Amino acid sequence: MVPGRLLLLLALLAAEGSGGSERDENLLVLTVATKETEGFTRFKRSAQFFNYKIQVLGLDEEWHGEDDKAAAGGGQKVRLLKSALQQHADKEDLIILFTESYDVLFASGPAELLKKFKQAKSKVVFSAENFIYPDRKLEAKYPQVRDGKRFLGSGGFIGYAPNLNKLVEDWKGQDNDSDQLFYTNIFLDPEKRESINISLDRRSRIFQNLNGALDEVVLKFENSRVRARNLLYDTLPVVIHGNGPTKLQLNYLGNYIPRIWTFETGCTVCDEDARSLAGYKDGELPFILIGIFIEQPTPFFSQFLKRLQTLHYPKKQTQLFIHNHEEHHRSQVDTFVKEHGKEYRAIKVIGPDDQLENAEARHLGMDLCRQDPSCEYYLSVDADVVLKNPETVRILIEQNKQVIAPLVSRHGKLWSNFWGALSPEGYYARSEDYVDIVQRRRVGIWNVPYISNIYLIKGKTLRSELDQGNLFQSSKLDADMAFCQNVRDQGVFMFLTNRHPFGHILSLENYETTHLHNDLWQIFNNPEDWEEKYIHENYTAALKGKLVEMPCPDVYWFPIFTDTACDELVEEMENFGQWSAGGNVDNRIQGGYENVPTIDIHMNQVRFEREWYKFLLEYIAPITEKLYPGYYTKTQFELAFVVRYRPDEQPSLVPHHDASTFTINIALNRVGIDYEGGGCRFLRYNCSVRAPRKGWTLMHPGRLTHYHEGLPTTKGTRYIAVSFLDP
Ligand SMILES: *[C@@H]1O[C@H](CO)[C@@H](O)[C@H](O)[C@H]1NC(C)=O
Ligand SMILES: *[C@@H]1O[C@H](CO)[C@@H](O)[C@H](O)[C@H]1NC(C)=O
Ligand SMILES: *[C@@H]1O[C@H](CO)[C@@H](O)[C@H](O)[C@H]1NC(C)=O
Ligand SMILES: *[C@@H]1O[C@H](CO)[C@@H](O)[C@H](O)[C@H]1NC(C)=O
Repeated sequence: MVPGRLLLLLALLAAEGSGGSERDENLLVLTVATKETEGFTRFKRSAQFFNYKIQVLGLDEEWHGEDDKAAAGGGQKVRLLKSALQQHADKEDLIILFTESYDVLFASGPAELLKKFKQAKSKVVFSAENFIYPDRKLEAKYPQVRDGKRFLGSGGFIGYAPNLNKLVEDWKGQDNDSDQLFYTNIFLDPEKRESINISLDRRSRIFQNLNGALDEVVLKFENSRVRARNLLYDTLPVVIHGNGPTKLQLNYLGNYIPRIWTFETGCTVCDEDARSLAGYKDGELPFILIGIFIEQPTPFFSQFLKRLQTLHYPKKQTQLFIHNHEEHHRSQVDTFVKEHGKEYRAIKVIGPDDQLENAEARHLGMDLCRQDPSCEYYLSVDADVVLKNPETVRILIEQNKQVIAPLVSRHGKLWSNFWGALSPEGYYARSEDYVDIVQRRRVGIWNVPYISNIYLIKGKTLRSELDQGNLFQSSKLDADMAFCQNVRDQGVFMFLTNRHPFGHILSLENYETTHLHNDLWQIFNNPEDWEEKYIHENYTAALKGKLVEMPCPDVYWFPIFTDTACDELVEEMENFGQWSAGGNVDNRIQGGYENVPTIDIHMNQVRFEREWYKFLLEYIAPITEKLYPGYYTKTQFELAFVVRYRPDEQPSLVPHHDASTFTINIALNRVGIDYEGGGCRFLRYNCSVRAPRKGWTLMHPGRLTHYHEGLPTTKGTRYIAVSFLDP
């Protein structure tokens, strides 16, 4: 960068950035807030960021101004403003900005605001809108305009103190009367308009009301600052108001404004609320309740339970609530509770017999935390969440939000546990930043309209803002959507963090539950999870040529399966049980070499051939290409089967050629423990592999050179998985 430009940039940042603005003693911001909502906190932060001087009216006063969604109401704001302005009535130089605060943000500082106000050349400037309310009959009285917005919006206005005092001094209304109507009537009275000297900010130079104007506004990224730009008028408004039904759009803009952040490093003020758990002893950590929801048959559930146990959070500070809707998972849950239940502070299980609906179960789990004053956090986790990051609970607690979810998404897909925007009907809509957030190209803490699958809620919030019965129940919406709508309706922000990798979500489609070990069949639907469970941890080293041994000429030996893969494959075959030595044998050994029957079960007999083929293609083919350079296999296999050797059944196999280009032979159990003897001898080289390793495969050429025999198993049962592969 040219030094001159750098200086200019720094100067700009100093003029506009955090804390850089000189406080202008002639400017005061007045706002009404009766509750410290998260929206209000956001407003205050943006004001502090630009160094505005604010005075809050009505805090802790009871709100009588009607629901802010109703057309009427708001009179309480005028009453409070009127009494506050009396003391400023004769301060000729004092400029006062009055604004709503629950759904308002500052996008720039006092200097720019004052400059724009003075350029407007009126003593009072109101925000403007495209919509007329509450009385549409007044339209004819509004001055015609050629350009810009025609109607007054009472959510924001700025003016000299004496003029504003004049504006409200005649207020005699009730708290539930309409402030909007009151100001509108003054503006539409030509005499008052002139004497108080009121104009409208028609081109959104100062005020941007989002209602009816969403298409006009885009985010504008410049250096490390973000502004909202009005494309219609080419202006950069200073005060952004998510009025009417546009609160969520304001939440969206609030993810960027007024923070200083970069795409690479994320927001720099993400930790504004942070609560550090560093230095806490285990026993001092907050007590949490984890609600676990198994609402449908879910693959890799044993992995889920293992990860639950290895979560880095003291079990004595953790209570579990498990809702298992599925018979399919009953024994896994029972075993888990039997073996580990005592490690936790408490554990409650609702099983399939209880026949509890999803919404009801989720309410029950949440309410357990709500009703227990010592429950500081409630973590809700669905069984399809693969939580890889054991620090997740601590990370979420440290963010110190009322409601926060860690980002989890489907591997390599855009499917995730949050929505960036809502459609007008309240369903999914894609926000402009959705893909960047899912793919972690933009990192930070995001205020979003919908979260699911896993989230943490403060117990305190459950006992205050979110204390209205079953948040999941709805006549129209699914439990997850009903929950989010209720949280939004209470003005509680739902945050999503993607500042760390947390894990992913499983695909539940096509999960077969008809086998003994159904996860084996998941190689297509959840390949990453399949690999983690079944492929040996040192397979990748083998793929790089490391760890590959050559016990006999041209016989390679490398790790391929985990112990679990071996055990489940054997159990699956034993469960099927139709071991046979006849029938298919003649089909199997083709080419007129030998006719060697084995006691075996073929992969197709247990309907595993598609998955086995995928396994060969994904994991064996790359290795053959490495070890036999110039040879490319499509891993077509003629035969794939599991062989059983037993001293009293079939202990060995006479010398033979395999009818294959090459053969793989995976040892599925342990010599010396599960059986004795066994192994494989290659006659041409007078070379034997006598101590096969469980999970390791032999790979050797078939026809021609590698005439071999199966050495006798002398005790126990030996299992191997064999495949004959052709080009
Ligand atoms: C406003 O409140 C008063 C009593 O406080 C009530 O009599 C009146 O009906 C209310 N007006 C509206 C429009 O709700
Ligand atoms: C406000 O006062 C200025 C002069 O001070 C005048 O030019 C302008 O027309 C006035 N505006 C209204 C709406 O009366
Ligand atoms: C993987 O290889 C490393 C280094 O050779 C070894 O220490 C480790 O035990 C191997 N893992 C398994 C599961 O055999
Ligand atoms: C094969 O090797 C063994 C020792 O490993 C040896 O005793 C035997 O004589 C060899 N047989 C032939 C035919 O070379």
